[in-house]
Amino acid sequence: MTGFYRRDASLVCDGVPLAPIAEAQGTPLYVYSAATIAARYRAIDEAFATYPHTIHYALKANSTLALARLLRTLGSNADANSGGEIDVALRAGFLPSQIVFTGVGKTRDELEYAVGLGIKAINVESGGEIERIDAIAASRGVRVKIALRINPDIDARTHAHISTGRKSNKFGIAFDRTREIVRRTAPRRGVQIAGLHIHIGSQITDLGPLTAAARALVGLARELQHEGTAIEHLDVGGGLGVSYDGSPVPSAGDYAAALLPVVRESGLAIILEPGRQIMAPAGALLTQVVDVKPQDDGKVFVVMDAGMTEIIRPMLYNAFHRIEPLVVREGESVAADIVGPLCETSDTLGRDRTVSAPQVGDLYAVLDTGAYGSVMASNYNRRLLPAEVLVEDGAARVIRRRQTLDDLLALEL
Ligand SMILES: Cc1ncc(COP(=O)(O)O)c(C=O)c1O
Repeated sequence: MTGFYRRDASLVCDGVPLAPIAEAQGTPLYVYSAATIAARYRAIDEAFATYPHTIHYALKANSTLALARLLRTLGSNADANSGGEIDVALRAGFLPSQIVFTGVGKTRDELEYAVGLGIKAINVESGGEIERIDAIAASRGVRVKIALRINPDIDARTHAHISTGRKSNKFGIAFDRTREIVRRTAPRRGVQIAGLHIHIGSQITDLGPLTAAARALVGLARELQHEGTAIEHLDVGGGLGVSYDGSPVPSAGDYAAALLPVVRESGLAIILEPGRQIMAPAGALLTQVVDVKPQDDGKVFVVMDAGMTEIIRPMLYNAFHRIEPLVVREGESVAADIVGPLCETSDTLGRDRTVSAPQVGDLYAVLDTGAYGSVMASNYNRRLLPAEVLVEDGAARVIRRRQTLDDLLALEL
C-alpha cells in the first residue's frame, strides 16, 4: 500500500511511521510519498497510452528540485510558469526541448531567456506577447514555436479563484479574436504557430467542461489548418481534481475517456499539464499542537504550529483538508476549530472538526497538501519556510532543509 494511511494507531507514509520523522525533523514539516507520485504519474500516462501524448508536469503545483527530478525520471516533461520555474526545470535535468512556458504576464527578461534556450513552445497569451516574442526572435535570427492559449469562455465549475476559462478571467486569447491574431501572426518570421492551448481551471471534478473545451480546441485547429496554419499539437492543460474529503471524483481513466474521443479526430499529438492530480495526495503537512483553548460553548480552539504561512489553501479558497493525528489518542472527543498561530482571524486550518482529547505536543497531519502547499508558503510574521522530506524505498530523507532566520535576513541590507 502506498501513500498516507493508518497502521494500527499510527499514520504512516508508504509504510514509514510519520511521528518519528516529525520528532527528528521538527514541525511544520512537509512529507512526500515517492510511490504515490510514481503511481499517479503512471496512471495518467497509461490512461492516454493509446494516443500520442506527452505529460508536462505543471511545476507550479510543487517544484521542489528532488520532486521535479523524480518526475523527470518517471518520464515526465515540464510546464513552467515563470523564468524561475524554467531554471528549476533545467536544474532538475529537463532539456529545453522538454519545457513549455505558460504564464499570463511574461516579462521581457523571461521571454529573452525562453527564446535563447529554444524551449519546446511558449504558450502565448495575447497578440502583444506574440509581437514581443517575434521581435526578440528576429533579433537573434531564430524562429520560435508558440502555442496560442485560447480562452474558450467555458465555466469549469470549480472555485471562482481557480477558474481560468471564462471571458471575464484574465487568461488567454478570447476565442473570437484568435483568427484575427493568427492572420496577423502568419507573416512574422520570428514565430511559428505550432499549437493551440487551453487550461480552463483547476480542481475540476465535472469532466463536461473539459470535454467542451477540448472540442472547441479541435474545431479551431481544424479551421486554422484548413486556412494553412501548420498546427502540430494540442495542449489541453491540466485541471483534473482530486478528492480532498473522500467523495468520489473522476479517475485518470475517466479523464482520458472524456478527452480522447474528442482529440482523436484531430490526429494531433496532445500535451497534458497535470499538477494537482499527481502531487496533492502525495504530500502531507505535519504540525504540532501548541495550545488548546476551551471556549464557553464547549468547543475548543486547537492551535497548531502551522497555518496560512505553510498551507494557504483553506484561507484562500475555503479549501477542505483532512486533519488527522499521527498517533490516535484514546479519550473524549471534542468539537474544535483547528487554527494556525498567525495574527489573522482567517488563519483557520479546519472548522468544526471532531478531535479526540487534544493535548499540547500532539502531532497531526494536514493531508493532501502536496500540491499548492509548500510552493505557496510565505514568511509572513517572520516565519521560516518548513523543511521537506521525501519517503522513498522505505527511507525518509530531507530534500529541503528548514529555512533559518539568517537565510531570511541575508537578503536585507
Ligand atoms: C497553464 C496551466 N497548466 C497546468 C496547470 C496545472 O493545473 P492542475 O494542478 O489543476 O492540474 C495550471 C494550474 O492552474 C495552469 O495554469
